[in-house]
Amino acid sequence: MKLLVTGGAGFIGSNFIRHIRQEHPDWEITNLDKLTYAGNLENLKDIQDQPGYHFVKGDIADRKLVDKLLSQGLDVIVNFAAESHVDRSILDASPFIETNVKGTQVLLEGAKKHGIQRFLQVSTDEVYGSINSGHFTEESLLSPNSPYSASKTAADLLCRAYFKTHHLPAIVTRCTNNLGPYQFPEKLIPLVITNALENKPVPVYGDGLNIRDWIFVGDHCRALDAVIQKGQLGGIYNIGGGNEKTNLELIRKLLELLNKPQSLIQFVTDRPAHDRRYAVDCTRITTELGWKPAYSFEKALNATVDWYLKNESWWRSIKSGEYAKYYERMYSHR
Ligand code: NAD
Ligand code: DAU
Repeated sequence: MKLLVTGGAGFIGSNFIRHIRQEHPDWEITNLDKLTYAGNLENLKDIQDQPGYHFVKGDIADRKLVDKLLSQGLDVIVNFAAESHVDRSILDASPFIETNVKGTQVLLEGAKKHGIQRFLQVSTDEVYGSINSGHFTEESLLSPNSPYSASKTAADLLCRAYFKTHHLPAIVTRCTNNLGPYQFPEKLIPLVITNALENKPVPVYGDGLNIRDWIFVGDHCRALDAVIQKGQLGGIYNIGGGNEKTNLELIRKLLELLNKPQSLIQFVTDRPAHDRRYAVDCTRITTELGWKPAYSFEKALNATVDWYLKNESWWRSIKSGEYAKYYERMYSHR
């Protein structure tokens, strides 16, 4: 099997490549990544020289490059490449449209031209919007509230349209919030861990009672692997950890694990249109594909904290670079 993995130098993409190398060493992987601020080849240092793995620096919205790569005879596309941070989409939505919408369309077009066997669009539960009680199923209305989630919704719908119109073998997965190694420290969990280790305030948006469902990144990767092998073409699969926590509950637990004072918590201005709760029904993937998460919340949180403690140079080099300017801009006025 020959895979084109896009965005493989990011958080989930790099964990996925590592998972595939371990589980299917005979599968060949081409990793196409633009290396934006979120892409980091350090995430794949142990893999970069392995036979059967190739890295290409480039943009998924670059039609010529995508055409050239796909003409080499690839079987599967797994599209992780995206602008992924809600707060950044509020500051400037343009790159989100370029990559998440146009980039996905360029990949779909390439997949159509070259007869790709499977196109896996790695999407998010955020396309459904917020839910006060109960769970979203794959049939629920799409109701995105941020420019990020709107751009991901557009990409999901393009996959649907290419399946319906051109019989393109697309499958969409919608996962909840991931935690684990190599997550960029702009996202809540690594932000809390690294700020706390630096004895810096931990910013909590609004009242801190927004709820997210957390899943260990390795469990998400196992789910994607199952979908590639057994997923129904044209299908949609929700993926969740079944670990709903308020942000405050999660942050308090992290500070406890790190032996840091709760006084580091600082309530700041809320995120505009901040979704109150995400929750998905995973009956379909569990019954059809036999997948279920292997990591409990406690095990996932411990493994994540442990990784950041052991990989201080990884996050310190990110936090001292360009990211410092973003952080200043993002949090100075909150
Ligand atoms: P990330 O921001 O850590 O990584 C994104 C990667 O995409 C980076 O390596 C970046 O360089 C690359 N990229 C960005 N624009 C590109 C372009 N135009 N061409 C090629 N590469 C480009 O993101 P992540 O958290 O790993 O998320 C990966 C995917 O999973 C995204 O599509 C996201 O929407 C989805 N997702 C994320 C989560 C989560 O909790 N992080 C949950 C559900 C779904
Ligand atoms: O649900 C899946 C989504 O999860 C993915 O599609 C996105 O790519 C990913 O970024 C994530 O989105 P969230 O907005 O849920 O994640 P984030 O880590 O930015 O925020 C998690 C929660 O914590 C959210 O309610 C906002 C809050 N928050 C976040 C930050 C960065 C804070 O209270 N303080 C912060 O500093």
